[in-house]
Amino acid sequence: MTVSVPDTPARPRVLSGMQPTDALHLGNYLGALRQWVARQDEQDALFCVVDLHVLTVPEAIDPHLLRHRSRAVAALYFACGLDPERNVVFVQSHVPEHAECSWLLTCTTPLGWLYRMTQFKSKSEGRESVGTGLLTYPVLQAADILLYDTDEVPVGEDQVQHVELTRDIATRFNRLFGDTFVLPKAVIPTAGARIMGMDDPTVKMSKSIMAERPGHGIGLLDSPNVLKKTIMSAVTDSEREFRSEHASPGVRNLLVILQALTAEPMPEIEARFAGRGYGDLKKAVLEAVTETVTPIRERFDALMGDPAELDAILARGAAAARERAAATLARVKAALGVGT
Ligand code: AMP
Ligand code: TRP
Repeated sequence: MTVSVPDTPARPRVLSGMQPTDALHLGNYLGALRQWVARQDEQDALFCVVDLHVLTVPEAIDPHLLRHRSRAVAALYFACGLDPERNVVFVQSHVPEHAECSWLLTCTTPLGWLYRMTQFKSKSEGRESVGTGLLTYPVLQAADILLYDTDEVPVGEDQVQHVELTRDIATRFNRLFGDTFVLPKAVIPTAGARIMGMDDPTVKMSKSIMAERPGHGIGLLDSPNVLKKTIMSAVTDSEREFRSEHASPGVRNLLVILQALTAEPMPEIEARFAGRGYGDLKKAVLEAVTETVTPIRERFDALMGDPAELDAILARGAAAARERAAATLARVKAALGVGT
């Protein structure tokens, strides 16, 4: 039986997602969300809240909290400017085709490919027992992407390896079972693709560290007081004033944040702060962050105040996503000889 892959549409087909683990941070915004919003007129896009991925750390499952966070992360997508009329926004578990496709792809993915993933290595390191889902996590992510004939996956730098694996999984499947999947590519932003921790600029800003260490991350929903504390106590170095030739990783991170938020060219920022104390740089970062997150926080509060409306938007999103996912899944099953 021949299976045909649809032609690439005029507007690139885009899919991305985030885990509803906890409050989102500035790295999520600059690395991913902001580019989702910026290009929403030029693309045919779907964005999901990947709640099934949270189950890969079973110790952390809290049913009530997970349901709440899935809704909250969707609300944050909208608060950051994603328009539900121009994009399909949904919760991954509301579209059962993701889990089904994931199994089919699990069977065609070599185990060695999964052991090589750096996220698996770092998350399983030093732990006595890890769930199988932590290893097969990228296969579910591949299903998320491949189900929608995705051309582009806008993500932060840390996800590039997973998108490349998705491409490998699709290429292998197409070779073994005939042309079925469109090959996606990762798209990372030019500024802000990797924001580092404020308390430790040698590690990327991450939700899991934020949960343990106040002062690590800049939360998009942090109060003005918390923002001030986090940014003004960011780690820099023992120099007294800024010199671009000697900028330490902490100072570089502050510059990158400022550049990403203000779109001012880096040489101009460096010239402006040359010879000035780090306090001035931090104040400028605080101001730029506050200007960005204040309206987001206000819109978020308004959206969370109307859960029925939020649920209605997500139900519409899931129905629209399902229609597309079902068509692709039918192709995959036909290629494998399963299903009716
Ligand atoms: P996660 O927080 O792992 O669910 O990531 C959601 C999205 O945010 C993905 O596209 C990541 O690549 C991106 N992201 C996460 N942390 C950072 C960071 N520190 N800097 C830039 N992008 C990030
Ligand atoms: N693994 C991604 C992260 O941790 C989240 C994710 C799941 C995703 N499915 C996806 C991102 C599909 C892009 C496309 O950030």
